[in-house]
Amino acid sequence: MKIALASDHAGYDLKIGIVGFLKKRGIEFKDFGCGPGEKVNYVDYAEKAIQMMKKKEFDRAILVCGTGLGMSIVANKYRGIRATPCWDEYVAEMSRKHNDSNCLTLGGRILPLDEALQIVQIWLDTHFEEGRHQMRLEKLLQVEEKNFKSKK
Ligand code: RB5
Repeated sequence: MKIALASDHAGYDLKIGIVGFLKKRGIEFKDFGCGPGEKVNYVDYAEKAIQMMKKKEFDRAILVCGTGLGMSIVANKYRGIRATPCWDEYVAEMSRKHNDSNCLTLGGRILPLDEALQIVQIWLDTHFEEGRHQMRLEKLLQVEEKNFKSKK
């Protein structure tokens, strides 16, 4: 699995913790910024990572801002992206089992590193349950079809 990783300044420190975790687990990833000491706009960094995911170069994305909210709002503007802000282990598990989340968003200002890494681990390891949830994802595709101009 290849992960596209990005943060704004408010998510930078947590992102660096996630970099260490992914390296230790041997998971392939690319960090699309921001860099240390920069003051940036979360919209730009969510877009950098998600656009690469849309090119099929990455399977999933992890985006970190202050709350995880701004990043998820941007990511969910892209067709096929199911970005889920996760704040605890239960939500992380459900985001994969029921929603087939392909983009995890986290809040650097609301989560201590150890809790965030637990969430990342669960989100990476949990499989989509399919069944009735697959039918709901298909309905979601119909919503995209109705409302998204871009076909890609
Ligand atoms: C940056 O101050 C903050 O607004 C941003 O990181 C994020 O929390 C937005 O949703």
